[in-house]
Amino acid sequence: MSVWGYCLFQRIVPPIFLFTSIILASAQAPSAPGKPLPPGPVQPKVKAACTSCHNTSRITEQHLTRQQWSDQLEKMEGLGAVIPDSDRNNFLNYLTKNFGPQKGAADPPAKKSGSASN
Ligand code: HEC
Repeated sequence: MSVWGYCLFQRIVPPIFLFTSIILASAQAPSAPGKPLPPGPVQPKVKAACTSCHNTSRITEQHLTRQQWSDQLEKMEGLGAVIPDSDRNNFLNYLTKNFGPQKGAADPPAKKSGSASN
């Protein structure tokens, strides 16, 4: 290989490498885990039912009333989410308790299981 060819190789490869890693990193961002869901009896089910299309941030960023959560669940079902009827009430309890409108106001502090790492 000529010296020129080698230089060209050296000049082209690092930017390509950098570029692909940037693309890969940004492509992975949407599926990043997001904030952890607070622990609770239905947490694993919520996680299973609600994080296949978007990460938990979609949920943890909300402050909704029970009625609004109910509407959200309906909307998600319309989009393809599967929420067993028997779990629906528990989902609503969990979501309203952890991501309700005035978090902590109605709940005794002991019930608020503070999530470990944020
Ligand atoms: C089949 C895919 C899918 C599943 C499963 C799913 N979602 Fe969504 N979710 C979406 C999409 C798509 C959006 C964006 C909708 C929009 O922007 O209008 C979204 C947005 C949201 C939002 C943001 C509010 C909004 O209206 O944009 C919340 C809150 C939410 N989802 C909660 C949930 C919960 C809770 C579950 C589990 C019961 C769930 N999602 C399961 C597809 C899904």
